[in-house]
Amino acid sequence: MEETSHEALWQHVRPERVVWAVAEHEGKRSICPLGWKMRTSGSPPMMAISVAPTRYTHELIVASGAFVLAWPGRGLAEATLFCGTRSGRDTDKFAHTGLTPLPARHIQAPLIKECVANLECRVATQMTSGDHTIFAGEILATWIADQPGQILCTIDHAEGYEFLLEKGGYRFGVVKA
Ligand SMILES: Cc1cc2nc3c(=O)[nH]c(=O)nc-3n(C[C@H](O)[C@H](O)[C@H](O)COP(=O)(O)O)c2cc1C
Repeated sequence: MEETSHEALWQHVRPERVVWAVAEHEGKRSICPLGWKMRTSGSPPMMAISVAPTRYTHELIVASGAFVLAWPGRGLAEATLFCGTRSGRDTDKFAHTGLTPLPARHIQAPLIKECVANLECRVATQMTSGDHTIFAGEILATWIADQPGQILCTIDHAEGYEFLLEKGGYRFGVVKA
């Protein structure tokens, strides 16, 4: 066992599934790719996400009290990079990516048609965690694509993953079928 820096360590604990937080308030919306998320309760079903206060999506979640989580599949690596490196403050991410918003059942934020799965969350509680905010949301509805497919991951150089795209410090792939 050798002590290492925490940055170096994360290279060894991938893959990490990517999920998009989608939020909307008063007609403004954004898509924020996230690596940091987890299930936190079975009854009621809940998920938590960690979002930096600098993200426009953070502002929209606080204002609306809700968010959609949408899991991108293998065809959405470029869209993930685009949405994850620009802010919805000055970019219409739906227009640029051609992604299709679908009405959610309980909240304003849209589902995304091209994603493998979508779920609707209402913020139940939030807390500051260093330079991020953890939003824990109660899951109100869950949706799955007709042909779900694999979920996009950030990967390292280990075997077992199908490499898809490397750009801007991110390396994307899916688990080999
Ligand atoms: C693969 C990937 C994972 C990311 N994970 C997170 C995360 O867990 N939390 C976070 O706050 N930002 C994360 N980001 C950065 C945001 O997606 C990025 O800052 C985005 O442009 C914010 O958009 P917004 O300003 O429209 O909300 C990630 C980006 C990528 C590409």
